[in-house]
Amino acid sequence: MEPFVYHNPTKLIFGKGQLEKLTEEIPSHVQNVLLVYGGGSIKKSGLYDQVIDKLSSLNLNVKELAGVEPNPRLSTVHKGVELCKEHNIDFLLAVGGGSVIDATKTIAAGAKYEGDAWDLVTRKATPQEALPFGTVLTLAATGSEMNAGSVITNWETNEKYGWGAAPLTNPTFSILDPVNTMTVPRDQTIYGMVDMMSHLFEQYFHQPTNAPVQDRMIEGVLKTVIETAPKLLEDLESFEHRETIMYAGTIALNGSLQMGYRGDWATHNIEHAVSAVYDIPHAGGLAILFPSWMKHNVDHNTERFKQLAVRVFDVEEEGKSDREVALEGIEKLRAFWTSLGAPERLADYDIDDSQLDLMIDRAMKRGPFGNFRKLEHDDVEAILKMSL
Ligand code: NZQ
Ligand code: ZN
Repeated sequence: MEPFVYHNPTKLIFGKGQLEKLTEEIPSHVQNVLLVYGGGSIKKSGLYDQVIDKLSSLNLNVKELAGVEPNPRLSTVHKGVELCKEHNIDFLLAVGGGSVIDATKTIAAGAKYEGDAWDLVTRKATPQEALPFGTVLTLAATGSEMNAGSVITNWETNEKYGWGAAPLTNPTFSILDPVNTMTVPRDQTIYGMVDMMSHLFEQYFHQPTNAPVQDRMIEGVLKTVIETAPKLLEDLESFEHRETIMYAGTIALNGSLQMGYRGDWATHNIEHAVSAVYDIPHAGGLAILFPSWMKHNVDHNTERFKQLAVRVFDVEEEGKSDREVALEGIEKLRAFWTSLGAPERLADYDIDDSQLDLMIDRAMKRGPFGNFRKLEHDDVEAILKMSL
């Protein structure tokens, strides 16, 4: 392992009925709150009314930023920053999925930065302070509720980047009641599970190092998601399965499985380039790209792919070469995601090779990337072509 310090400052408040804690978690000096949410799911589910009720009981001035889009846009972040400055906002509350939370993070930092918030996303500038914020999560997927990451799209330039500045962009608290995820539609539920599995894969593929505890923990979470996913899709209103998946999503990307090494994260980088050009759902892209990334890299460290195949996908080893076992594991992953209803090819989103160069350019914007294996231009091209 590499030496590490782990400090996650987000207070995690998990379970049925935990929204009750909202009033005590908002710091007592707070006067002006910006409530950030998406396209209306929280109004439909009744969560909006519950949150407003709680905020009203504290006599706070509440301003709203509604309509944060999936793959949140810089233009929306700009609106949020304006609102914060205009109304002297001293606390933000994100109620929604990863997109709402990510937008809130960049708004919180942008409100305390003199220049354009895009400078923070592109890492041209480092924030020195940020407004504090809490979250009420409604979709299990990104882990954004308990990490510092924020992914923002600049639609004018077709750029989508992740950034973060812990602890400034860590939520102060996050309230996770699985009941609030019961209304997530089937497709988003599938995407959420693909996303959390992808986060686990990104961490599993790291530079060879001594991390047997981390390996077993990641394999355990992966197996649990694989076992639970079909059951949840059979019964989208199962509290028990929503609870399992919600916890898995948070654990998968709150840093607790990535101690002592750096994950790969190349597939996420390529996916962000694809959704910057085509605005497809993040995990739809991952479902297509991850098996391609794995196949492309299987000869780099075949032993690692074989371990995944045997331990997580129960591939029989007898009479097969390591490479065959590894490839069978990748096929089993593809078949599993297909069985859930996830997309398999970029063509499923009507994406052909006409914008291939633009996608490669966006993926390569910050130079070669990937900590398991560095990808160059030709690697990205090969992975995208394999995914068409
Ligand atoms: O906008 P509303 O009306 O709320 O509807 C949303 C949206 O249409 C809907 N939804 C959310 N909760 C719901 C619900 N519908 C019914 N009932 C509920 N309870 O679901 C749709 C998708 O929401 P979104 O927030 O976009 O999904 P997700 O949580 O998957 O977030 C995706 C974004 O997060 C980024 C992705 O790139 C993408 O932009 N990521 C952020 C990460 C992070 N901060 O650590 C890591 C990830 O790898 C990822 O890149
Ligand atoms: Zn992701």
